[in-house]
Amino acid sequence: MSETTDEQSLASRLPEGGFPPPPELAAQANVGPDVYERADADRVGFWEEQARRLDWVEPWDQALDWSNPPFAKWFVGGKLNVAVNCVDRHVDAGHGDQVAYHWIGEPGDTRTITYAELKDEVCRAANALIELGVQAGDRVAIYLPMIPEAVISMLACARIGAVHMVVFGGFSPDALASRITDADAKVVITADGGYRRGAPSALKPNVDEALTKTEGVRSVLVVKRTEQDVEWTEGRDVWWHDLVTGQSTEHEAEAFDAEHPLYIMYTSGTTAKPKGILHTSGGYLTQVAYSHWAVFDIKPDTDVFWTAADVGWVTGHSYIVYGPLANRATSVMYEGTPETPHRGRWWEIIQEYKVTILYTAPTTIRTFMKWGPEVPAGFDLSSLRLLGSVGEPINPEAWLWYHEHIGGGRCPIMDTWWQTETGAHMITPLPGVTTLKPGSAQRPLPGIAASVVDEEGKPIEPGATGYLVLTEPWPAMLRTIWGDDERYKDTYWSRYGEGVYFAGDGAKLDEDGDIWLLGRVDDVMNVSGHRISTTEVESALVSHPTVAEAAVVGATDATTGQGIVAFVILRGDAVDSGEELVKTLRLHVRKEIGPIASPRQIMVVAELPKTRSGKIMRRLLRDIAENRELGDVTTLTDSSVMDLISSKLPAAPSED
Ligand code: PRX
Repeated sequence: MSETTDEQSLASRLPEGGFPPPPELAAQANVGPDVYERADADRVGFWEEQARRLDWVEPWDQALDWSNPPFAKWFVGGKLNVAVNCVDRHVDAGHGDQVAYHWIGEPGDTRTITYAELKDEVCRAANALIELGVQAGDRVAIYLPMIPEAVISMLACARIGAVHMVVFGGFSPDALASRITDADAKVVITADGGYRRGAPSALKPNVDEALTKTEGVRSVLVVKRTEQDVEWTEGRDVWWHDLVTGQSTEHEAEAFDAEHPLYIMYTSGTTAKPKGILHTSGGYLTQVAYSHWAVFDIKPDTDVFWTAADVGWVTGHSYIVYGPLANRATSVMYEGTPETPHRGRWWEIIQEYKVTILYTAPTTIRTFMKWGPEVPAGFDLSSLRLLGSVGEPINPEAWLWYHEHIGGGRCPIMDTWWQTETGAHMITPLPGVTTLKPGSAQRPLPGIAASVVDEEGKPIEPGATGYLVLTEPWPAMLRTIWGDDERYKDTYWSRYGEGVYFAGDGAKLDEDGDIWLLGRVDDVMNVSGHRISTTEVESALVSHPTVAEAAVVGATDATTGQGIVAFVILRGDAVDSGEELVKTLRLHVRKEIGPIASPRQIMVVAELPKTRSGKIMRRLLRDIAENRELGDVTTLTDSSVMDLISSKLPAAPSED
């Protein structure tokens, strides 16, 4: 297919004016078009209304205390128990038999957990933690695979007021140790191992190693999952089935202050020391529950909801655990990788469990594109009614592919912009309201105040590019960086003055006032004084029929400030014609964006370096592009990827 035809077909697949909400969905949507006006009229009152969807033991006397910015307090004086809101109240209301999770192990084993069973499991685990001496306010590290015990452990902590700190199971012993030290965790909950890519991978040895590098952990609670041999430290290690299984299912839950800490989640940062993002109880639960209900239009009696992410990330915390449970949703939880044992595994799960809503990341969608549409076409995906995207800007090509090949052309896609720090969705369409524009997260969630500003903090004109800021506090906002109030102030609140949160993302406003996220500001290149987003160039590259994935970095250039360097993975059927292909792609980008965006170098590679959450590590690509020694590679999924890329590179940049 020639370029021109392909571009025409992309343009013709983007209807003028966007994709309006399907009328049947709009007619029955949880949230209608009047919501924005209502929320704007009384923002804090709007959040009070949403907080009333939860059960409070004590009502709040002040909805928001913003007298000491940037330290917010929401629902001051209110008391609730987060776990009771997620589990007990649904059982008490007669929904004990409803499935909370359809859990699917990678090897094919399954577990169905009803709300009543979940309540029993959480109470048992809460009693076990108490037996280990855990008290309200203590930190508990959770280092588990995607098994039900991960959710049970988080809820058990919440139930007794302990602060959980989940570390993604793919992290190294060093990363685990530094987080345990920073959070000063007393207990670690782990497993012998988990299943990934068809084989058991060990976790307990990582904990053993981590605990040689940090002090203060008294107990290690170990779930048996893979039956691998484990080393055992008597007096410290205890099996879950020995300690938890025999506990009573009775546990009287205490109500905690709305501002009681709920969890710490470390972000893989750009500096050496990770930031411990602190979330608290009442405001966090209010916004995750509301956003999950409004953005995914959750109907608890009929929907089967699937966030295909790991509980080790904020997406898992908010949209596998707290949001869905607060809304009494039935969720799917899958332990493994999409290609195990075959590339249709996700679609098989959707077919079997009649999943109605799927929430995943653009990087995964592009992987599916690479594998080809015939894979999902082999399964019945007609149960799906809504799709979601999170984690990075979704390029229109991937959006359309997701819409056509997964959503059957009928499912609206919610492109949700948010961060570990924001706790819940912030910029997103609403399914029964918004006419969708592929590639744009569009507008702030009702009750959220956002703006796009220039260097001086002045709101930009439609059509211009600037920085995304949040101009009012929101219920699920981070409260601080654990143990470091100064860093909290410096990182997020110092750039544009008091009370303005700097998100670190570039954004463009279109003529309708819709927001287009352009990626991290540090990913914005400056070429001859023109600001160009790496995402924009990547999006242009992947819109070419030969390209499956692309990563773009700005490398220092003596003439232009920065030069654009692109790394591309070709689609399976594309032929690498060397310089010929590079020329074609360069021309394609010039055509898509303009000559200023023409990459200085384009390199065809077999893999891209990604973090375990699927983010491309541009920092490492920049090192390569600038012929520097590689920086820290420990957060990569697979550090050998860098050797692979380096070995494929030409000795010198090719110039036209
Ligand atoms: O750059 C934005 C990007 O991911 C960043 C937040 O990453 P993290 O804290 O790991 O949380 C990911 C899951 C919420 C943001 O600063 N990002 C996230 N969602 C989108 C996005 N960029 C564009 N569009 C999105 N929908």
